[in-house]
Amino acid sequence: MPVAAPLVLGIETSCDETGVALVRGNTLIAETVASSMDEHSRYGGIIPEIASRAHLEAMVPTVQSCMAEAGLNLGAVDAIAVTAGPGLVGSLNVGAAAAKALALALGRPLYGVNHVIGHAAVDQLVHGDFPERVMALIVSGGHSSLLLVDDIATDVTELGCTLDDAAGEAFDKVGRLLNLPYPGGPHIDRLAREGNPKAIRFPRGLTAAKFQEQHAYDFSFSGLKTAVARWVEGERDAGHPLNLPDIAASFAEAVVDVLTAKTIAACRRHEVDTLVIGGGFSANTQLREMAERRCAEAGIALRIPPIRYCTDNGAMIAALGSAVARANVAPSPLDFGVDSSLPLTTISLQPQA
Ligand code: KG4
Ligand code: ZN
Repeated sequence: MPVAAPLVLGIETSCDETGVALVRGNTLIAETVASSMDEHSRYGGIIPEIASRAHLEAMVPTVQSCMAEAGLNLGAVDAIAVTAGPGLVGSLNVGAAAAKALALALGRPLYGVNHVIGHAAVDQLVHGDFPERVMALIVSGGHSSLLLVDDIATDVTELGCTLDDAAGEAFDKVGRLLNLPYPGGPHIDRLAREGNPKAIRFPRGLTAAKFQEQHAYDFSFSGLKTAVARWVEGERDAGHPLNLPDIAASFAEAVVDVLTAKTIAACRRHEVDTLVIGGGFSANTQLREMAERRCAEAGIALRIPPIRYCTDNGAMIAALGSAVARANVAPSPLDFGVDSSLPLTTISLQPQA
């Protein structure tokens, strides 16, 4: 009789969401999330100290409600996975401390895993095991990374990342420029649906031929943000009313054009025919439309999990923990330190040799 896959409890606290989930194999058993976003929105950005305190308050009730939803006791858990980074250091520490305490008390293995790779792994809960090789574009308020995934538990290569702002962050900053509420991303999305994406030709960062060698798959959005600021200033100086839908649509077009063009070029170069998109920015309408169109043209299968799996959550960490545990990767030491800038070369923290 085949041995059942381990029941993995995943804990995510890298930013403002306290996420807890139970996963067995590729099946999500239960999931609970508490968010401190409402406490940050009046500041126009995440306040790390507020986030850490909120995690501390939410941790025990969130674990309890996840177990209650599953109808299981903690004793049923076979392994614990927790975000080891990247993220806000104080927030990461709250999750890591809770996970270590559970692992120690229950006598179960602990896996400190990479948050960004978790954003890719969660897709397996929705669309099943990855084929041999997939490309993953992870886009959110904090990250924009292009990953070549040969094995989600053991072999992930970072092909590119943003050199400055993340895609969602660029949307939020342009949102602020246009006096939209924080976070501006969804507001720009809404406005852009009514505007003309060809109205203004905004720059496409790092796409010139001279960047092909060193930055073929890297992104840069800060020049674009400056270009939008200049355009707005020029219009105001000229006494023109701002055409917000056209500005939003043209800005969004510039961002998603670069994201999708570079991603599809990377798929071609590495002969990959499956693309996974994850992270909170994958909710963006303009990105979804362009990715669908360009993937169809290129014969690439596109996998985007439902949005509740794309924003930060415990399921992504439990999913990666489940993959790592099933691959028989060594657990992390109980005294591991979190790493706010954990590199993408680390899928799960390994014991020192
Ligand atoms: O993954 P997420 O919930 O949090 C992290 O950043 O890790 O992503 C949130 C980001 C914010 O920058 C938000 O403005 C952006 O994703 N976002 C969007 C949309 N929905 C969320 N940006 C553009 N269009 C959207 N529909
Ligand atoms: Zn994230």
